[in-house]
Amino acid sequence: MMAPALEIKNLTHYYYKGTKNQIAAVENVSLTVEKGETLGIIGHTGSGKSTLISHFNGLLKPDEGEVIVDGKNIFENKETLRQSRFKVGLCFQYPEYQLFEETVYKDIAFGPKNMKLPSEEIDRRVQNAAKLAGVKQELLNKSPFDLSGGEKRRAAIAGVMSMEPEVLVLDEPAAGLDPAGRLDLIKMIRHYRDVTGCTVIIVSHSMEDIARIADRVCVLANAKVAMHGTVKEVYSKGDELRSMGLNVPEITRIMLMLREKGIDVPADIYSPDDAVSAVRNYIEGRRGV
Ligand SMILES: Nc1ncnc2c1ncn2[C@@H]1O[C@H](COP(=O)(O)OP(=O)(O)O)[C@@H](O)[C@H]1O
Ligand SMILES: [Mg+2]
Repeated sequence: MMAPALEIKNLTHYYYKGTKNQIAAVENVSLTVEKGETLGIIGHTGSGKSTLISHFNGLLKPDEGEVIVDGKNIFENKETLRQSRFKVGLCFQYPEYQLFEETVYKDIAFGPKNMKLPSEEIDRRVQNAAKLAGVKQELLNKSPFDLSGGEKRRAAIAGVMSMEPEVLVLDEPAAGLDPAGRLDLIKMIRHYRDVTGCTVIIVSHSMEDIARIADRVCVLANAKVAMHGTVKEVYSKGDELRSMGLNVPEITRIMLMLREKGIDVPADIYSPDDAVSAVRNYIEGRRGV
């Protein structure tokens, strides 16, 4: 059988370990992500999302537990750790703050250069990643500092995509963008996944964003996995989610209210567009009677 893209086994991570301030930011977390799957990780601020994903390519070392990438424990030796950096591409929250080269091109080329790839291959990757991330060709020779906020975000994400990782991990990729910008960014990631077949792990506190892209969802609360399952399974537990400071999308709540009034629309609607189609189907169905 094919090894999962990523397996986390009983991972615990402490900050201020051994002091009286010691806290477990991640506590006994296990999860499996299959190849080609998109996993959403949601949770309130401080629930441990960023700490957890920083282990996925060995940036943080677990105090307890294991990180297994493509069947190999990444901390087994130096080589497995090095390989994990190439296999798992980590894009931090507000990645645009890490742009530092003279040109956007050089920034996107930074990762592949570190991988010591031939220059034609680096160029191919830069062009391809820029295209997939929606960075316009004419921006490549500009300074990253001359880009708009949204353009910088995409350039930074392209810098991870250019490493062509098997697993792409994005920490709050749409943070700070307006609703239209958020939607565009999620669409871009979805397109990237569909074109490359890459495994994607996306962290967000927005249940709308996660519903738009994830196959499965893992909910973190107080450093632990509180729920996991398909979007449908998890989003149907509105009360539990609310108790963890998370809100099911407003449109989902409206659909549930309609159902309570005896209007037979589906309960698993997470976007306004789907709600429009569902209500239209309902009306057309009634007309047909
Ligand atoms: N570098 C750090 N040093 C000490 N404590 C930290 C550090 N980073 C995060 N924490 C703490 O660990 C917990 C989890 O934080 P974090 O992983 O950033 O959660 P999230 O990404 O879900 O907001 C929080 O209590 C946070 O204050
Ligand atoms: Mg975070």
